Amino acid sequence: MVKNHGLAGIVVDETKISSTKNAHLIYVGYPIEEIAQASFEEVVFLLWYKHLPKQTELVAFRQDLVNKMVLPAETIRLLLYIAKEPQHPMSILRTTTSLLGTTNDVEHDEPPKILAKMLTAIAAIIRIRDNEPLMEIDPDLGVVENFLLMMTGKKPSKRLAKMFSTVMILHADHEFNASTFTARVAASTLTDYYSCLTAAVCALKGPLHGGANERVFEMLETIQQQQIDPLKYLQDQLKAKRKIMGFGHRIYKDGDPRARILKQIAAELVQTTDNQVYYQLQIKIADYMFARFNLHPNVDYYTALIYHCIGLEKETFTMIFAACRTVGWLAHIMEQRQEGSLIRPSSVYIGPTGRHYLRRVGDH
Ligand code: SDX
Repeated sequence: MVKNHGLAGIVVDETKISSTKNAHLIYVGYPIEEIAQASFEEVVFLLWYKHLPKQTELVAFRQDLVNKMVLPAETIRLLLYIAKEPQHPMSILRTTTSLLGTTNDVEHDEPPKILAKMLTAIAAIIRIRDNEPLMEIDPDLGVVENFLLMMTGKKPSKRLAKMFSTVMILHADHEFNASTFTARVAASTLTDYYSCLTAAVCALKGPLHGGANERVFEMLETIQQQQIDPLKYLQDQLKAKRKIMGFGHRIYKDGDPRARILKQIAAELVQTTDNQVYYQLQIKIADYMFARFNLHPNVDYYTALIYHCIGLEKETFTMIFAACRTVGWLAHIMEQRQEGSLIRPSSVYIGPTGRHYLRRVGDH
């Protein structure tokens, strides 16, 4: 028998991008607690090119990314139809990512252009769903400010942009998580970038992975709006064998280092947006989950409240995760292409053997 719980603890390859060894998250050698203070563009550069940019390189890289935050007219035309559909935004994004790979002359698209298009497309999906006009970039702003501007229609304050930049950095990469591994499997066949990203979006959508952040907020809303006792809600869910969204992690058994930083951001944002009641509820739930099951919040837990404070609808939360993780997906696709070989593991067959097929009389 193969004792194999979803490849837990199985090392499948090497990477120079990020590590969660001993539950310490590092990006190309830098602890997450330190690199989270860098600018988003610096971190993108680091994850892709494995060193921090010089000041002149950073300025040029930022401007290049911002200039590329535009979609081809044909993509916008189709997006106006697709994004209005009543499907879940992650289903819309799945189709959109694929669509981005089918317009003219995309075969030469490189990671900067691909990331810029993904961010712009995600912001556009949000605007179209809200029946709001699409926004254009402000060339004087950075990538994070422009992403916020294109999503919300408002130029963010410096403080909000800084907090959101940290959120984006914290989500940018996480070694061989399910969606990144999916992207790497696709990349190992030498398929194109957009195909790899489409596969990754599909994997991220699931509630055990990126889809958890939406469900975290759903839980908070249900408890708050229906005035349910939170502890009774949790007990009922667990009795029904349902997982509590935003808790637990395959790697971090003593807490997710990203959640600690996200908790501080949520605590600050709820003050200015009058969402303290949700934050207090989150603390109550977290205390119970720790005391009763020794389970800690993961990256999706406080993020849900942060996105709510920014004014986003819960259905769009996982798209924001996808926007940030596109950085890491692209880093891994590049690494897989350059250094990897075809990913094709083996299995142990445990089905029946020794059967023989005899054609019955009258069968064709
Ligand atoms: C992300 O892998 C990554 O790096 C992912 C990610 C990234 O950056 O890419 O960090 C992003 O996907 C975060 C996770 C988001 N998902 C959720 O919040 C969904 C709820 N969490 C779980 O279902 C679970 O904790 C997982 C999926 C995150 C991890 O699953 P594992 O490693 O397979 O662990 P498990 O399900 O086997 O749990 C071990 C024990 C079990 O109890 P026992 O059977 O041993 O008695 O802990 C219990 C589980 O039942 N448990 C939970 C729980 N999480 C674990 N019980 C209730 N609620 C939970 N959330």
